[in-house]
Amino acid sequence: MSILVTGGAGYIGSHTVVELLNMGKDVVIVDNLSNSSILVLDRIKEITGKRPEFYQIDISNKELLRNVFEKEKIEAVIHFAGFKAVDESVKYPVMYYENNIMSTLSLIEIMTEYDVKKIVFSSSATVYGINNPSPLVEEMPTSATNPYGYTKVMLEQILKDVYVADSDWSIALLRYFNPIGAHESGMIGENPLGIPNNLMPFIAQVAIGKRQELSVFGNDYDTVDGTGVRDYIHVVDLAFGHIKALEKISESKKVHIYNLGSGVGTSVLELIKTFEVENKIQIPYKIVPRRAGDVAICFANADKALNELNWKTTKTIADMCRDTWNWQSKNPNGYRQS
Ligand code: NAD
Ligand code: UD1
Repeated sequence: MSILVTGGAGYIGSHTVVELLNMGKDVVIVDNLSNSSILVLDRIKEITGKRPEFYQIDISNKELLRNVFEKEKIEAVIHFAGFKAVDESVKYPVMYYENNIMSTLSLIEIMTEYDVKKIVFSSSATVYGINNPSPLVEEMPTSATNPYGYTKVMLEQILKDVYVADSDWSIALLRYFNPIGAHESGMIGENPLGIPNNLMPFIAQVAIGKRQELSVFGNDYDTVDGTGVRDYIHVVDLAFGHIKALEKISESKKVHIYNLGSGVGTSVLELIKTFEVENKIQIPYKIVPRRAGDVAICFANADKALNELNWKTTKTIADMCRDTWNWQSKNPNGYRQS
């Protein structure tokens, strides 16, 4: 029996596939490569010695997806596939609703057809919206401020409704905080196309000389040094969170909701400083006005994942900064050759 990983060629998916293969699981990846590279498969093979089955398909195509379920024996699904850029979702809302919602609906339909009723879903801390105070706990009300966020709020609701209709399903909704870092081998990592929106990929591109300087979005927040505070989590810790969630949904049929974060906040300036110290590289930056839609502080209460999954983060901000630079310096153009 195999684990089907949608979006398994992407950033978080590829790191999770590595850990699944390391544990001896059989893995089938489905990905349309809209935001990833086929070269990831070679890298996964180099790290683990194993090559996962791979189907280059769009998961909203039910016929093609059905074909995968027909050929493979799937026991559970980890569902990463989707678009994830907030700004882009504001510009192209229909594209976001279509890709994120429709593809998940077709996935649920085909899973139901083949009686595969275990799914781990990539949600996001973005579902806490802008009104809940940190530390954020799973029981807080959810909301969104942009189409990307709404897709996560809606998909959580859709999956809860699927469970209400049929309690044979077992579902984990994992609310990631801010994933950064890369596999310690430097073989796989985050590979943003165009100008990065997120802080760490931007820092990494300044470090490699692709961008001149970082813009720090506001230093007048009510935080330790005035800059925004977030809960950064190493992508390999995050990958292990998925393994624990898979075990959980196999043990008990329910909708399980977990924050996957460290429970600790780090400011923009603290992250820059740690990156500079760990990698001995200067990161030139300037302070610019706040970015619309940003909250001052966002970090998890991570107790539920600790108590119920026996999972917690193990890697430090220094590890995240070193591993990001290891990946970026070995792959200046990501998976592209030039
Ligand atoms: P990513 O873009 O690197 O990976 C997503 C993968 O899905 C890509 O390989 C892409 O080609 C594929 N894909 C997209 N639409 C598809 C479709 N219709 N059919 C088949 N494949 C498709 O993103 P990531 O950072 O690895 O994020 C994975 C998931 O986690 C996403 O759902 C994202 O919203 C969520 N998430 C990410 C973050 C983050 O900061 N990276 C934070 C919270 C939640
Ligand atoms: C952003 C998204 C969020 C998404 C998350 C993970 C917005 C408004 N929010 O969150 O929905 O779930 O990414 O993909 O886009 N910063 C700078 N300069 C930069 C980039 C960021 O100062 O060039 C600051 C931000 O103001 C913030 C911190 O760095 O304080 C982290 O930003 P980012 O990496 O974009 O993550 P989030 O804001 O948490």
